[in-house]
Amino acid sequence: MILVTGGCGYIGSHTVVELLSAGNEVLVLDNLSNSKVSVIDRVARIAGRAPRFVKADILDRKALDEVFKAHRIEAVIHFAGLKAVGESVAQPQRYYENNVAGTLVLLDAMAAAGVKQIVFSSSATVYGDPEVVPVSEAAPYRPASPYGRSKRMVEELLFDLYAADPEWRIAVLRYFNPVGAHPSAFIGEDPNGVPNNLMPYVTQVAIGQRPELSIFGDDYPTPDGTGIRDYIHVVDLALGHLAALTALSDAPTCLVANLGTGQGYSVKQVVDAFEKASGQRIPVKITGRRAGDVPCYFADPSYARTRLGWTAQRGLDDICRDAWRWQSWAAAHPEEL
Ligand SMILES: NC(=O)c1ccc[n+]([C@@H]2O[C@H](COP(=O)([O-])OP(=O)(O)OC[C@H]3O[C@@H](n4cnc5c(N)ncnc54)[C@H](O)[C@@H]3O)[C@@H](O)[C@H]2O)c1
Repeated sequence: MILVTGGCGYIGSHTVVELLSAGNEVLVLDNLSNSKVSVIDRVARIAGRAPRFVKADILDRKALDEVFKAHRIEAVIHFAGLKAVGESVAQPQRYYENNVAGTLVLLDAMAAAGVKQIVFSSSATVYGDPEVVPVSEAAPYRPASPYGRSKRMVEELLFDLYAADPEWRIAVLRYFNPVGAHPSAFIGEDPNGVPNNLMPYVTQVAIGQRPELSIFGDDYPTPDGTGIRDYIHVVDLALGHLAALTALSDAPTCLVANLGTGQGYSVKQVVDAFEKASGQRIPVKITGRRAGDVPCYFADPSYARTRLGWTAQRGLDDICRDAWRWQSWAAAHPEEL
């Protein structure tokens, strides 16, 4: 059985669908601080069967011990964490406690139970403003926020753990910009409050929840002046976790892989593609640059291709189509969320 922490969240729920579809038994552990338990039913609707679910916090060692005692867990995919960069600047202790201390508690509980296989959700934010694009895994750490530093700390913790005990099987996956939704439309990104990221903001403008999209700067040194990012379809990202588990099943190891497409798109290109996919017009307003934003980054995904046998298959049109389907379904079925 695979334990998925944070499995009710955006990326976790899509990964649970793929794990179930591939025949795995799955136990989701989530404290529901940024998700809803209804996602379990919607995951079951897609996969044809439900994962098990435990409402618990990764900081709760007793609850973790009970989970490891009650179930034969082979591996953990560890999504649980807080992820808003701006919030992490305002509330650093909360981020270090949840993301770093929470992971320490989880790793202790795993070690005590003899479970030594983990896939960890890291982030391209560990690179900060990279000197070279595409960004390879060899790029130096330059995280620019407490959030990014919490990811770096957990990465280093995992490297030290492997150095101390080479029986561990560890995959550190550095995600670029996860977007899109499951093509069934039953699960997708469902942010609380004002979205921090481009795609959920665009979809909320399209559905009429917000009047316009603010573009933070059109004077960057990019072809159309707007920032460029590597947008990866969340289903491709989910499949990257299955590929990582397969790689870990070969032999103990500690690997670090970028999960991105290798292709960058500007904010304006995303808006154009979304208008095309949805048939909706997205009013935009150009505002000043946002502190901490970098002009351009996208992944060098070649290591994931050779080491994990994984490449992103879905493009920007698929991303926009699926994000729009999800947003439309969610707006029409609020009672199911
Ligand atoms: N979405 C992105 O843009 C992005 C990019 C890079 C990395 N990541 C990382 O991927 C992981 C998943 O991201 P997501 O977008 O699915 O976020 P999300 O907020 O949708 O999912 C995280 C889940 O973890 C749960 N959770 C949080 N703290 C917990 C705790 N202490 N105990 C138990 N459950 C807890 C939340 O309730 C939520 O369901 C996070 O670690 C995030 O930092 C996300």
